[in-house]
Amino acid sequence: MTAQIPDSGKTALITGASRGIGYAIAEAMVARGDRVCITGRNEDALKEAVRRLGADRAVYAVGKAHDQAHQAAAVERTMEAFGRIDHLVNNAGTNPVYSPIADLDLDVIRKVFETNVVSALAFAQLTWKAWQKENGGTIVNMASIAGMSPSPFIAAYGVSKAALVNLTVQLAHEFAPRVRVNAISPAVVKTKFATALYEGREEEAAAAYPLKRLGVPDDIAGAAAFLTSDQAAWITGQTLVVDGGVLLGAGLG
Ligand SMILES: NC(=O)c1ccc[n+]([C@@H]2O[C@H](COP(=O)([O-])OP(=O)(O)OC[C@H]3O[C@@H](n4cnc5c(N)ncnc54)[C@H](OP(=O)(O)O)[C@@H]3O)[C@@H](O)[C@H]2O)c1
Repeated sequence: MTAQIPDSGKTALITGASRGIGYAIAEAMVARGDRVCITGRNEDALKEAVRRLGADRAVYAVGKAHDQAHQAAAVERTMEAFGRIDHLVNNAGTNPVYSPIADLDLDVIRKVFETNVVSALAFAQLTWKAWQKENGGTIVNMASIAGMSPSPFIAAYGVSKAALVNLTVQLAHEFAPRVRVNAISPAVVKTKFATALYEGREEEAAAAYPLKRLGVPDDIAGAAAFLTSDQAAWITGQTLVVDGGVLLGAGLG
């Protein structure tokens, strides 16, 4: 099937991409002709995702996003398979606890920061050194609207995503003009990760959205494809909110 798709000659490393938003981004990038290296913790799921993406267009690296040995191996795998890393998508994220902030276990928030913030910086440092410093490229960090306003019961996650937005700004400033760095902040997107936020009450949850539906992974993939394309050539340091309008709120009227 891949014989019919274009060849951009470009490559992407996408973390957390065996399913959900990351996989949809991988699909969109492969469809426009990129080659991708996807990561995740479950090897069988990665193998199946590579099979669906096309083994001539995709490879995988198995491991946990916060693990330094895995970070280095994923970058090496991408360079070894394709010889370049034009785009880095820091998509892997975690939200292991639902708790009022007053009761938040501090070890949990440390763990959340390791995966959602520190690993994104580590991958950015590694891709910068391996390819982007000399050759340019783009980085997209997957934040969340949970980082923009109070998010009851997922405060640790919200604080980490706010930090990721500022990391985006810091990286954009330091890596310019070679590398553009942007973030995407989705509202609820129907994936395994967000199941607890809508399962059994999707209609009720969707009613709060001016566009009257929850997101699907392709909604976010479109934004990522844009930010990593030349159509976004003069955009850096920004966070694109992709939220079905939910942050517009009801106002006073
Ligand atoms: N869905 C939403 O409503 C929503 C909203 C805003 C932001 N986001 C953000 O979007 C990103 C992707 O979420 P999603 O909804 O697509 O989740 P998902 O459907 O659960 O997919 C997560 C992917 O990441 C991998 N993964 C999970 N934890 C990982 C880790 N520690 N290290 C490496 N890979 C890991 C998973 O594979 P394995 O389980 O095999 O590792 C899977 O491939 C996250 O950063 C999340 O915070 C999601």
